[in-house]
Amino acid sequence: MTAAQQHSGEAGAGLLRGQWAVVTGGSKGIGYAIAERFVGEGANVLIAARDKAALDEAAGRLRALAGDGQRIESLPADLGGRAGIDALFDHIARELPVLNIFVANVGYGIFRSFLEVTDEEWDGIVSTNLTGTFRCTQAAARLMRDRPADNRAILVISSIRAQGARPNTLPYSTTKAGLNQLVRVAAYELAPLGIRVNALSPGLVVTPMALSHNPQAAELGAELAPLNRAGMPSDMAEGALYLCNPAASFVTGTNLVVDGGESLW
Ligand SMILES: NC(=O)c1ccc[n+]([C@@H]2O[C@H](COP(=O)([O-])OP(=O)(O)OC[C@H]3O[C@@H](n4cnc5c(N)ncnc54)[C@H](OP(=O)(O)O)[C@@H]3O)[C@@H](O)[C@H]2O)c1
Repeated sequence: MTAAQQHSGEAGAGLLRGQWAVVTGGSKGIGYAIAERFVGEGANVLIAARDKAALDEAAGRLRALAGDGQRIESLPADLGGRAGIDALFDHIARELPVLNIFVANVGYGIFRSFLEVTDEEWDGIVSTNLTGTFRCTQAAARLMRDRPADNRAILVISSIRAQGARPNTLPYSTTKAGLNQLVRVAAYELAPLGIRVNALSPGLVVTPMALSHNPQAAELGAELAPLNRAGMPSDMAEGALYLCNPAASFVTGTNLVVDGGESLW
């Protein structure tokens, strides 16, 4: 049983009771685990992703965890382009009374050598990981500015690959390094408005994406992490909950590494 399942349905419990959280890429992997953890803490949650069937299924699982009066919404949208991002934020502005938490989790990897990366691959990953996250976080910050609330937090899912250097990671690690800088400057600019901006950097986490790159991701993760086990989406959800909950009101511009020690070597 995950922490989210343990906490769900407990009357009065809930670090995020009554808050509204939006999680992009919330149908699978790390995004779903974050959405699940937030629901377990009493949040109303909107998830967005492209595949409507997977999104509906994920929203159904979240509804089963939610307590009375908690709202779960889903919106199919491609957040790698302007049209999908506009559709998401039109929906948020129209349907949600407030936006307390925005988790920019959408992203993917291309793992091949610098000399072989094509223009098309480069443009695609920059457009989704970097430009898409810039547009989403800017739109979220504008909405938060216009609708003040006690807890307003933006979280960007980065990666430990943004630090150090490993072969065959150039397009991915470059976009994630850009996101780390986006987080720092945005945190500085938005602090006077009371809006916090932080990053979470996972190591290898066993998700559909990781498994599509390497079916032995769990075994590899255990080898890479000094803590001797692979990272799970629920590990990332605990970090996300810390950064986004009101008790972290003095935390902004930070980058929380959750990697079992993988980046220590
Ligand atoms: N897994 C790891 O080892 C690892 C390590 C470090 C960092 N991360 C980062 O963590 C984040 C989540 O990764 P994950 O491993 O959980 O990935 P995942 O298993 O592939 O899940 C990605 C989620 O994002 C959605 N998505 C992908 N592209 C989208 C788009 N253009 N528009 C809207 N939704 C989109 C997917 O649904 P649809 O496909 O239906 O759209 C899915 O819900 C990424 O930013 C990744 O870079 C992952």
